[in-house]
Amino acid sequence: MTRDKAAPPGIDTSIPSVARVYDFFLGGKDNFEVDRKVAEHALRITPDGPAAGRANRAFLRRVIRFLVTEAGIDQFLDIGSGLPTQGNVHEVATEHDPKARVVYVDNDPIVLAHGRALLAEEGTATVIQADIRSPQEILNHPDVGRFLDLDRPIGLLLFAILHHLGDDEDPRAVAAALIDALPSGSYVAISHFRDPGERDPEGSRKAREVERIFNESLGTGRWRTDEEILSFVDGLTPLEPGLVPLPEWRPEPGATAPDQTDTYHTFVGVVAHKP
Ligand SMILES: C[S@@+](CC[C@H](N)C(=O)[O-])C[C@H]1O[C@@H](n2cnc3c(N)ncnc32)[C@H](O)[C@@H]1O
Repeated sequence: MTRDKAAPPGIDTSIPSVARVYDFFLGGKDNFEVDRKVAEHALRITPDGPAAGRANRAFLRRVIRFLVTEAGIDQFLDIGSGLPTQGNVHEVATEHDPKARVVYVDNDPIVLAHGRALLAEEGTATVIQADIRSPQEILNHPDVGRFLDLDRPIGLLLFAILHHLGDDEDPRAVAAALIDALPSGSYVAISHFRDPGERDPEGSRKAREVERIFNESLGTGRWRTDEEILSFVDGLTPLEPGLVPLPEWRPEPGATAPDQTDTYHTFVGVVAHKP
């Protein structure tokens, strides 16, 4: 039997949390029995869930490196940042530019608890607890003003977060409000669960099945079509190669293409530029 370590104060371990289920997929230790049950249920439908999580983190690292080294971005707003893991945004960014600054935002208190511990001695990043569904609250947060210069281009990071908003929560308006506040020259990076639809009926069926499990157990998770995902960056210019399966976004030179398992076509990413 796995023994859970004590939860930080204020953390409810009786209900599963997105951040902790994802931590389990990534092989982390900040999850509890209730989270592992959800993950194991989902794994029965798509056993390559952990590979999908790793592909998302690898996409994140390539995007950050590109934004710092090729686009000259040195400040990031990372919303739905998740629990600290290997290769956190500020670590990748400051490796290439020691001046880089990051504000992490998450609505799960466990992220704040562990994030503060990680960042206690760093000074290059901060973590705030806020909800993406209140974008103005994030934009007006004093730490955002203190860490980021909203008059200079920003990298807005929305990795694996917009699919946790239901259609009734209007993710398009949320993204638009955030993008609106960015100066021109900024970039937005998104990764998102995708429903491949008619081009892959079996993939679509599995996507819907996992969507059902996520919603029944976590109360969230929405697999969207390409058109729906691209509508989040309406008015911006998607960079080459556009919206693609995560491993296909500017792979490392010489990297071997991964197996096209179940989640390959159902987890996609795009980076767009604000002209
Ligand atoms: C799947 S994790 C993604 C973590 C990281 N961005 C990545 O891609 O590796 C999604 C994160 O979004 C957070 N989240 C979910 N709904 C949110 C909301 N309404 N506002 C802020 N954060 C939210 C969860 O707590 C979780 O940490």
